[in-house]
Amino acid sequence: MAKVALFIFITAVVAISFALDCSDVIRKEQEGVLSWLGNITFNAPVSTGPSGWTLTLFFDRNFTGVGVWDGFVSFNRDERWAEITNRNSTDAVIEAGEKKSLRFRVNFDGERPNPDVPEVISLRFQDIELCN
Ligand SMILES: *[C@@H]1O[C@H](CO)[C@@H](O)[C@H](O)[C@H]1NC(C)=O
Ligand SMILES: *[C@@H]1O[C@H](CO)[C@@H](O)[C@H](O)[C@H]1NC(C)=O
Ligand SMILES: *[C@@H]1O[C@H](CO)[C@@H](O)[C@H](O)[C@H]1NC(C)=O
Repeated sequence: MAKVALFIFITAVVAISFALDCSDVIRKEQEGVLSWLGNITFNAPVSTGPSGWTLTLFFDRNFTGVGVWDGFVSFNRDERWAEITNRNSTDAVIEAGEKKSLRFRVNFDGERPNPDVPEVISLRFQDIELCN
């Protein structure tokens, strides 16, 4: 029992220490007046199967939309999250440790010239936190 508990404790500590700062995972490629373009690059913490993967972005502020090129996106503005999923079966399978990279765009509203820019405060791949 004690060994199991210790193992779980160590696993939890390791899992927490793997979550990076989001600025290390998401690079802003271009900043517009009411939008920015981001590049997400990470090593997959787990493998995914034919049913594919989900990458969830949580924002600190309201946005008006999130778009992607290599995937599908859905979002909830009230809850400030956007979910990116694989586009097809070829793209579904990722091996653990494999490097994955994709681009997305965030649009937002606000008072010009200094609107409140929504930032990503947490990113999850298959519900595993990659950064916060
Ligand atoms: C599958 O999706 C990937 C990533 O969006 C894309 O590069 C590839 O062309 C797509 N393949 C097919 C067969 O549509
Ligand atoms: C955020 O957006 C929601 C839905 O559009 C709106 O109800 C809410 O008032 C907004 N909050 C802020 C702080 O702008
Ligand atoms: C994101 O940036 C990395 C590092 O510059 C680059 O290698 C990768 O191709 C970019 N990804 C996309 C989808 O543009």
